[in-house]
Amino acid sequence: MNIDPREMRQVAAAIAPRIDMYAGIHKALRALMADTLLALGRMDHDDGLELAQTTQRVLELLEFCRAHLQHENDFIHAAMESRAAGSSGRIAHEHHEHVEAIDALADQTTALLQCAPALRAERTLALYRALSVFIAHNFEHMHVEETAHNAVLWARFTDAELMELHGALVASIPPEEMMFVMRWMVPFMNPAERTAMLGDMRAHAPAPAFAAALDVVRPHLSEREWAKLAASLGLSAQW
Ligand SMILES: [Fe+2]
Repeated sequence: MNIDPREMRQVAAAIAPRIDMYAGIHKALRALMADTLLALGRMDHDDGLELAQTTQRVLELLEFCRAHLQHENDFIHAAMESRAAGSSGRIAHEHHEHVEAIDALADQTTALLQCAPALRAERTLALYRALSVFIAHNFEHMHVEETAHNAVLWARFTDAELMELHGALVASIPPEEMMFVMRWMVPFMNPAERTAMLGDMRAHAPAPAFAAALDVVRPHLSEREWAKLAASLGLSAQW
């Protein structure tokens, strides 16, 4: 059977996976959002320490969301607009709404921490519900980015260009934020993604940064998951 080489190239191009800048970080966001919401739902609001720790986690989530959408605006939307004007419009508009929602939720969280003990039960439930609606919007929003935005990026950029863009975005992230990303991203990836992520980090980051990332990740993996990761990276027994 003769197959036209041009057709073969087209089929190969359609099958070959493209660079997906959203996949890993959005797994991290979904995990962090779900975990924080569940923590708030089970919080003992009469326990001052637990109240302080859980509201702090909500504030951390909100700050992470703020930083994340800023990275997307600065790098991904700017790149999309440079080659497909208007292509990031809907999501950019939603980012404006998210910033307003983040501000309101942060105020609501601080107010809960400072309110009279008699009001805590009611205010905790109100914050839990408001946060769940925010997270629901974000889950749908991320899906649009992973489908419609990726379609634009894949149509207008080569994989080499996308890797360069992603590299520039990652290079702009301060070390402290990067460790927070590792903590929430790597444990909630599948084994192949974990190996690719950490293998890349070992190749490009200083050795102490790689070691710190392993230390951050390990407590959140099961023994079996850790054994697979260590074997795939060829880590010696010292780990
Ligand atoms: Fe976004």
